[in-house]
Amino acid sequence: MVQEVVLTPADLILPFFVRPGVNIRAPISSMPGQFQWSVDQLISEVETIAHQGIPAVILFGIPVAKDALGSDNYDPAGIVPRAIRAIKQSVPEMVVISDMCFCEYTDHGHCGIINTPGRSHFNPHLPEGYLLNDPTLELLGRASVVHAQAGADIIAPSGMIDGMVAGIRLALDEAGFHHVSIMSYAAKYASAFYGPFREAAESPPSFGDRRQYQMDPANRREALKEVAIDVAEGADILMVKPALPYLDILSAVRRTYNLPTAAYQVSGEYAMIHAAAANGWLDLQRTALESLTAIKRAGADMILTYFAKDAVEWMR
Ligand code: PBG
Repeated sequence: MVQEVVLTPADLILPFFVRPGVNIRAPISSMPGQFQWSVDQLISEVETIAHQGIPAVILFGIPVAKDALGSDNYDPAGIVPRAIRAIKQSVPEMVVISDMCFCEYTDHGHCGIINTPGRSHFNPHLPEGYLLNDPTLELLGRASVVHAQAGADIIAPSGMIDGMVAGIRLALDEAGFHHVSIMSYAAKYASAFYGPFREAAESPPSFGDRRQYQMDPANRREALKEVAIDVAEGADILMVKPALPYLDILSAVRRTYNLPTAAYQVSGEYAMIHAAAANGWLDLQRTALESLTAIKRAGADMILTYFAKDAVEWMR
């Protein structure tokens, strides 16, 4: 009766890595219990978690081929559009969120178009290798419409590209997808905790890092500024990422805005708990559930977590 926060399956969103091929369920070594799935295998797993009461999934794609523009992301036959269509066909009630970023699809591993001499949009006043913000917006809009056409319920831009929410909203509305929501990775930090993800999604940057566009972990006021911009641009759900090391940010966002707030317990947070548990230093189940409860207590209405499937079992 007096417990203030109760974790439920309905709070959780499970991320999936989807790759081409059939009958593939390839373990990710730095994320025990997580896999790269081919679409056919993914479908049966999504059916299982739907029965568990998990309401939503978020998809990350590993394409057959990468190029300078990340064209698989806006190809209607690309890996994520194919996965979205398959899920919507077999489990229509599952909320499908599409992570909208280019780093998994570009050969250079950055989250958009890179300033390169001789290539389109080259700007001689900017350094080589600089991420070109505005030309990237055009591609984000185009890819978002393709994912919406495939059946995505929510588009989740994760690249911290300035203007990404407004650009995607405009593109979706113009294409008739007024009902498709935007979950913005509004305050996303340039975090070392993404390490295992980059193996899982095969998306490490081939040069430099993501500090041009992701936030400095030292900054809190800047997070509120970034979030305010996304609210003004029409975001429907605000996300803070990572989760546990940034509970103060999450709490501030929750208190400042009346929009649903999400937190992403990222790959490194998951890997850390697993690694310590494998050594016998931490109790896996208790540590995971305590972390998720703390994230909800700090203000998350929903949590993206690789623990979702196990956590639902443990809650029982
Ligand atoms: C793509 C993206 C990343 C994550 C989610 N979307 C990687 C990154 O920004 O480098 C990280 C998720 C995780 O670590 O679990 N931009």
